[in-house]
Amino acid sequence: MKTNLIFTLLISYAFFASCNKTQQEDYNWLANAIEVSSSQLRLTSEEIADSTKFPRSIKNGERRLEDLYDWTSGFFPGSLWYEYELTGDKYFETQASKFTNLLHDLKDYKGTHDLGFMVFCSYGNAERLSPNDSIKQVLIESAESLASRYNDTIKAIRSWDFGDWSYPVIIDNMMNLKLLFYASDISKNEKFRNIAIQHANTTMKNHFRDNYSSYHVISYLPVTGAVESKGTFQGYSDNSSWARGQAWGLYGYTECFEETKDKRYLDFAIKIADYIMKSVKTEDLIPYWDYNAPDIPNAPRDASAAAVTCAALLDLSTLVENGDEYFKYAETILKNLSSDKYLAKIGENQGFILMHSVGHLPADSEIDTPLNYADYYYLESIKRYAAIKGIDTKKLVAENKAR
Ligand code: GLY
Repeated sequence: MKTNLIFTLLISYAFFASCNKTQQEDYNWLANAIEVSSSQLRLTSEEIADSTKFPRSIKNGERRLEDLYDWTSGFFPGSLWYEYELTGDKYFETQASKFTNLLHDLKDYKGTHDLGFMVFCSYGNAERLSPNDSIKQVLIESAESLASRYNDTIKAIRSWDFGDWSYPVIIDNMMNLKLLFYASDISKNEKFRNIAIQHANTTMKNHFRDNYSSYHVISYLPVTGAVESKGTFQGYSDNSSWARGQAWGLYGYTECFEETKDKRYLDFAIKIADYIMKSVKTEDLIPYWDYNAPDIPNAPRDASAAAVTCAALLDLSTLVENGDEYFKYAETILKNLSSDKYLAKIGENQGFILMHSVGHLPADSEIDTPLNYADYYYLESIKRYAAIKGIDTKKLVAENKAR
């Protein structure tokens, strides 16, 4: 009897030990992704310790640094916040605060719609992880600056101040609405929320084709609010599907549903997701920079579009009844981005985490390069993935170190 009991206990122990080992092995790729991102962000923080600029990409083999008014300035501080959240390492909290504070003057900047990216990825994460009243104030004042670009005849926020368009609005602008929703919540000023909703509705009406693919730029006539033109700036052609644009739209409407609980936005996000999933024809699900690029299969891939799509689909998978299809698709993207093909080797890639993105191909700019926003949405995807799977990333990192 006693022998039987000991035997059963031994078998049970062996079974649970092997389960635990399998679990660790299953997430080796995730532990490795966090280790690589951690090392890369630490290296970059050390190498630019005396700079007041922000790493954006690689140009002529060198790290391209830009000042706070560049549209991508918030992503590096944002990545540091995510790394802090994933690892619990105080070093990243210190660096994240330092680089976030360099953006303080943006709150009064009215020269671009990108304020949402710039301020919410940085200060928005700071407020979430280390809240205080002065951060809230920056967010509210930035929302006021962004709202100054809203036109009530057109019912949309103006994106750019350059170019020949009368009033350009780009699909990317959907990403700047979160700042308005958040500022509305903390200031109790409904104006910001109403602007965000109007902008989302106008974009829904004019930016999308019947198959739920999106134009990049819609220009409006300010006197009547009528559409002046539909076309592209960064895509292959006016009628093509620029990969990152599709991802911005998906992310934006998923977020709008979360903020408003208006089912129309969820249905719209689902339609965009289905369009993306049916149109991306690559085996690893990392899209070509434009779905209609003429030189497919030799066209460059865009890891940034994949990372944004991945983060959005992970979110969407938690908002619908059967989100498994979205989760599985996102998981494939995330695992592939975490493979040697896209994930940098420690110490290489000028400290960026991912390789192989495209910034602006028609302008011959940032082709097959790392981009700081690919890194940001990759880390966000890791965070969302771990949350859905119930993985404690701090524990995973510690276990990985101990091995
Ligand atoms: N928002 C600019 C871009 O996606 O390249």
